[in-house]
Amino acid sequence: MKEHFDALEARVAKALEGGGADRVGAQHKKGKLTARERVGLLLDEGSFQEIGQQVTHRSTNFGLDKQKFLGDGVVTGYGSIDGRLVYVFSQDFTVLGGSLAEAHAQKICRIMDLAMQNGAPVIGLNDSGGARIQEGVVSLGGYADIFFRNVRASGVIPQISAILGPCAGGAVYSPALTDFVLMAEGTSYMFVTGPNVVKTVTHEEVSSEDLGGASTHATKSGVAHFTAVNEIDAIRQLRQLVGYLPSNCEEEPPALLFSPGDEQRPELDSIIPDNPNQPYDIRQVMNAVIDPDSSMEVHAEYARNMVIGFARVAGRTVGCVANQPAVLAGVLDIDASTKAARFVRFCDAFNIPLLVFVDVPGFLPGTDQEWRGIINHGAKLLYAFSEATVPRITVITRKAYGGAYDVMNSKHIGCDMNFAWPSAEIAVMGAKGAAEIIFRGEIAKAADPAAKLQEKEAQYREQFANPYEAAARGYIDEVIRPSQTRVKVMAALEMLRNKVDKLPRKKHGNIPL
Ligand code: HXC
Repeated sequence: MKEHFDALEARVAKALEGGGADRVGAQHKKGKLTARERVGLLLDEGSFQEIGQQVTHRSTNFGLDKQKFLGDGVVTGYGSIDGRLVYVFSQDFTVLGGSLAEAHAQKICRIMDLAMQNGAPVIGLNDSGGARIQEGVVSLGGYADIFFRNVRASGVIPQISAILGPCAGGAVYSPALTDFVLMAEGTSYMFVTGPNVVKTVTHEEVSSEDLGGASTHATKSGVAHFTAVNEIDAIRQLRQLVGYLPSNCEEEPPALLFSPGDEQRPELDSIIPDNPNQPYDIRQVMNAVIDPDSSMEVHAEYARNMVIGFARVAGRTVGCVANQPAVLAGVLDIDASTKAARFVRFCDAFNIPLLVFVDVPGFLPGTDQEWRGIINHGAKLLYAFSEATVPRITVITRKAYGGAYDVMNSKHIGCDMNFAWPSAEIAVMGAKGAAEIIFRGEIAKAADPAAKLQEKEAQYREQFANPYEAAARGYIDEVIRPSQTRVKVMAALEMLRNKVDKLPRKKHGNIPL
């Protein structure tokens, strides 16, 4: 028997070597960890169970018969994060550049199938030169097998992608189909075609980093939801993210123990500036309402006029969506709308209540926005909120003007509890703009037009720039002192815990994509 055990040990040791000491050294030199080191850090200590360690490719093309590596360039299996089951695949760049072909793809698909059958998240650690060139079309088939599963799993189990090295060509589409993409700064990039092809086709000269590095995708394209300063930080963020999420769409998110204390937040009573055009940071409001230090912002650097992220209230996960008056006055534009819409849909798919803070002057006007389709993109947010059946709470802190009032989780589109602060202005538009339009003739004829405008503006403000007109119609359930917001939100979330709301039977809706 001993020789059998020795043979097994030798094979396991061989698999653990990856592409060999030199390539592992080169990986470390680039500031990157190996596939196994990443899995070891990601999962609870000792929890990793590997599947398919002895798998090899079956190709003999271009000398591949002499280049067989146990595992075929991807480490796959399952383990736990804070005691909860997750599935993981981790591409090994030291083996044939982590390139994907038939066997490599089959290993990933197996993990995805198990995750679907057993209802647990899949985390992909991507570090790959793309389709394995020697294996040709089977590589393309392998990618498509993964894409197909990504789509089937969407909304059933959380799918998270970390980009920790190159990710090019069609390989970018699997991460793009997952719920969250995290990129490591300086060592990762994503693009459909690299700098050389770009140069040939468009004559643009651009570096890999500028074309598709972490900062590009976190600020310009919005492809990356999170960035990490290094891989240790990346893995810490992945673990944190999983902590907010249920394992699948049938479960509730995990709750932390919570002991109630003094939930008044007096600092909120003085947060709104006297001048309605002066900004303030909506994060200060959110942070006072959620449990202390419980937030994880998503898309922090993209469309900063909208703030979204996970947090906890009384120990339970909520998805926060908030206009940010400190950036572009919190206006709704294309990027802010699509950013929030996708997040709202994720939260709804995974039973995460929505907590929305509103201070919005309206949609951003102009040819740029109109020609790029703000109508369709704004409609995505309207659609996402309208179809959401999770508990939904809105707090209007200041402006809620025009169509943006409707869109931002208003009562009319299904919000459960709508609160407004006394400083709220719920109106078709700001008082000055409204007065200029409806009293144009009267103002023009006045001896002192400026004084007349001021008078009419005050008249309009008196009637509409407050929350009471909306409260009188039941659009607002309660006008509250800001210091009471956390107490009210906690009570409303508790009241809504067993909410049941079903959409009409349909195959699926048709969101304006
Ligand atoms: C096979 C690959 C490979 C690939 C890298 N390697 N990419 N082997 N297929 N796609 C191998 C290299 O031969 C090398 O092997 C090892 O991985 C490390 O590669 P290096 O080039 O030495 O590393 P580095 O300098 O860091 O450059 C990394 C790289 C580069 C930028 C990723 O390797 C590269 O450009 N590779 C090709 C990328 C590509 O064109 N892929 C196809 C994209 S199209 P040794 O033995 O020397 O260690 C695609 C279509 C998918 O993916 C469509 C799906 C629908």
